[in-house]
Formats: sequence, structure tokens, C-alpha cells
Amino acid sequence: MSALESRFDETIAADQRIEPRDWMPEAYRKTLIRQIAQHAHSEIIGMQPEGNWILRAPSLRRKAILLAKVQDEAGHGMYLYAAAETLGVDRAELTEMLIEGRQRYSSIFNYPTLSYADIGVIGWLVDGAAICNQVPLCRCSYGPYARAMIRVCKEESFHQRQGFELLLAMVNGTAAQREMVQESTNRWWWPSLMMFGPPDGDSPNTQQSMKWNIKRHTNDELRQRFVDMTVPQAAALGITLPDPGLVWNDERKAHDYTEPDWSEFKAVLSGSGPCNAQRVEHRKRAHDRGAWVREAATAYAQKQAARRESAA
Ligand code: 3HC
Repeated sequence: MSALESRFDETIAADQRIEPRDWMPEAYRKTLIRQIAQHAHSEIIGMQPEGNWILRAPSLRRKAILLAKVQDEAGHGMYLYAAAETLGVDRAELTEMLIEGRQRYSSIFNYPTLSYADIGVIGWLVDGAAICNQVPLCRCSYGPYARAMIRVCKEESFHQRQGFELLLAMVNGTAAQREMVQESTNRWWWPSLMMFGPPDGDSPNTQQSMKWNIKRHTNDELRQRFVDMTVPQAAALGITLPDPGLVWNDERKAHDYTEPDWSEFKAVLSGSGPCNAQRVEHRKRAHDRGAWVREAATAYAQKQAARRESAA
């Protein structure tokens, strides 16, 4: 084993951070590019389902909150693309891979937002699941990713709280509003469980990612944490989670729950989810429409550089 490999292994074993200037195994770098790019793509694509309701928010206050949240997601995408670029890739290249279907984004964003209650349920369940998954990533061994996560998690907490508060207002409203929240929960519960990835036995990346301290917990461990966190929140809302198998197991000191339909998960990952084509088409259209901004910014930067050079 070379001195560089030993140093990398010692750093990981000492639970220290790997920084961009440090030597790292190519497989470690590739896994990070895959996961950070997927995370960044998810943040940007994730703006679509909620953005769909900005013009239809029921009050100026709700519109302002939703606008702030969607803007936050764009910022999360930028932090994460910046973290990925420290590994030697370029966000333009990553965006191309996303649009060509060569990189993934989270399955959760392939579901439609059919009612305004979805805005609250996404904040409550989807951002709640994101927090369960992202807090351990603040301790990821790769410095730039861990530091991006610290900032993201602070904003994610606001996202989850605003969603829960919106639902609290609705469940304390009319019977029709309560029914809207229940119907939305029934649609988003199972896709939220799928956000954590396949069962541990079907996860080809978890073991190695945990050896490298990229992942701190397995998919099933984080899914369980999310279920246990959400059950009392649903009770506080007076909402029933749509799983008859959900029951407290005193032996395990955790809730037993029914596994999601993994064939649906596989179908969504292979592109057959309700909104896959629409999400990627929208992303491509936005990217094409923004080409002139990128060209102008590049031309301006080149002009500034040439000016600095001639002044030197
Ligand atoms: N959606 C899409 N693909 C998924 C997935 C999901 N929910 N879960 C797993 N996969 C893919 C993996 O990418 C992998 O495919 P690949 O090898 O071709 O990339 C395959 O399914 C097997 O899964 P593994 O468990 O082996 O893969 P990972 O070790 O990468 O674990 C993960 C999957 C838990 C999603 C992990 O990648 C992760 O923690 N990523 C960072 C968090 C993230 O991306 N969150 C996405 C949501 S963004 C968000 O929540 C925004 C918020 O504002 C709402």
C-alpha cells in the first residue's frame, strides 16, 4: 500500500475530513461525485413540484413563505454543485448528464402536487425525511459536502416547520381542509419512505460508503428514524398515516411498518414515474432558456480578465 493510501485510510479511521487537495482513491471520488451530483440535481428538480403552487398560494404570507423555500432549494443546489466541482467535475457537465438521463435525482420529485395541502405535506414529510438523511451527512468524511450540509440543514428545518404549521392551520380549518390534508398524506407517505433508498439488502453502495464515512447510517436505519419521528407528528395533526401495519414494537423500541412497494420505486427510478418526463423536459427547457445568461456571464468574465491582464 502506498504512503498516500495509508494516509487516506488513517484519516478516515481517525474520523477526520478529506479535503479537495488531499489524495483520495478514484472510487471514493467517483462515489462522492455520484451522490453529491444526485443531491444537487434533486434540489433543482425539487423546485418544480412546489413552484407549481406559487401563483396559487391562498395568501400573500403563504406565497412569500413558499417563494423563500423554493429559492432556498436553488441555493442548496448551488452549494452542492460547488461541492461537486471541488472533485474536478463541472456543473455544466453534470447538468448535461442529468438531462441525458445519465445521472439521477431523487425519486420523490417524480410525483405531482395535486392540491395545496401537498405544499404542507412536502414540507412536513419530504423535508422531514431530507433532514433525517442530511443531518448525518454533516459528518461526512468529505469536507466540502459536510460543510454544505450544515448550511442546508439549518434551512431545511425552516422548510419542515413551515410545512407542519401550514398543515396545523388546515387541520384546524374546515372538514374539507382536513380531508385535503389526509388525502395528500395518503399520496406522499410511501414515496417519502422510498427517499431513503432501497432496503439495505438491495443497496450496492451503502457498505462501502459507510466504510468511507460518507454515509453514517444505512438506508433502513434512517427510514426507521423518520417513521419514529413522524408518528407523533401525525397524531398531533390528527392525521392517520396510511399504513395499517404501523404499530409500536416495545421490544424493538421502534415502530414496525409495512415496506413500501419496491417495484414502484424501481419503476420510478427507471423513468416510469408519474412526472419523470415532465420534470426532465422542464429542466432542459429552463437550461436552454438560460444559455444567454451563461454566455453573457462568460463573456463579461473574459473581458474583465483581459482588462486585468493588459493593466498588469
Ligand atoms: N431516488 C433516486 N435514486 C435513488 C434513490 C432515490 N430516492 N435511492 C437510491 N437511489 C439509487 C442510488 O443512486 C443508486 O443508484 P446508482 O448507483 O445508479 O446511483 C441505487 O438507487 C442504489 O441505492 P443505494 O442505496 O445503493 O445508493 P446510495 O448509497 O447512494 O444511497 C441515497 C441513496 C440514500 C439517496 C444517498 O445517495 C443519499 O443520501 N444522497 C444524499 C441525499 C439526497 O440525495 N437526497 C435527495 C433528496 S434532496 C432533498 O431532499 C431536498 C429537500 O429540500 C426536499
